[in-house]
Amino acid sequence: MDAADISQDLTRVLFTKEQVAQRIAEIAAEIDEEYAGKDLLIIGVLNGAVMVVADLLRAMKVHCEMDWMAISSYGSGTQSSGVVRILKDLNTDIHGRHVLVVEDIIDTGLTLSYLVSNLRSREPASLEIMTLLRKPEAAENAVDVKWVGFDIPNEFVVGYGLDYAGRYRNLADIGLLAPHVYS
Ligand code: IMP
Repeated sequence: MDAADISQDLTRVLFTKEQVAQRIAEIAAEIDEEYAGKDLLIIGVLNGAVMVVADLLRAMKVHCEMDWMAISSYGSGTQSSGVVRILKDLNTDIHGRHVLVVEDIIDTGLTLSYLVSNLRSREPASLEIMTLLRKPEAAENAVDVKWVGFDIPNEFVVGYGLDYAGRYRNLADIGLLAPHVYS
């Protein structure tokens, strides 16, 4: 679905699918350069990063493997709970591997800092983070993120993999959710 199909649920469109594709292509080119000649493993964080991983990997020219982790975040609300749980672990042993974690969005950074310390304990050769979106609070925290698609305002966004109560993941654009939907 496009933003026009659910315009009553959105305050405004933040990024069109064309703007997202353009930014992902830029980051893919940088990742190609960084990992040329290296054995790269991409870890996608389910479910939100599905679209980012799918588009980023197809825009990249270097070889890579792909694995997935699922960790708990908001449940069905719009506030971070601070409680992080592994719901699905990796299938791959990352010891000695070059690992790039791909996230949909970093809000408080709580989920990411848990994930990073968990993955570091498995002793990868390197560990970097790419996130499509980042909210201001995360920018203030010392979360070391190598690639950020867009820094966005502190509002609730949906689309391109991001949900509210399980919906809107299949919106091709990224939009601000209208308050009447969640209040
Ligand atoms: P953090 O731990 O506060 O950084 O939260 C990260 C997770 O919360 C993300 O992976 C998303 O699942 C969810 N999240 C945070 N902000 C939003 C938003 O604006 N829209 C949809 N999900 C969000």
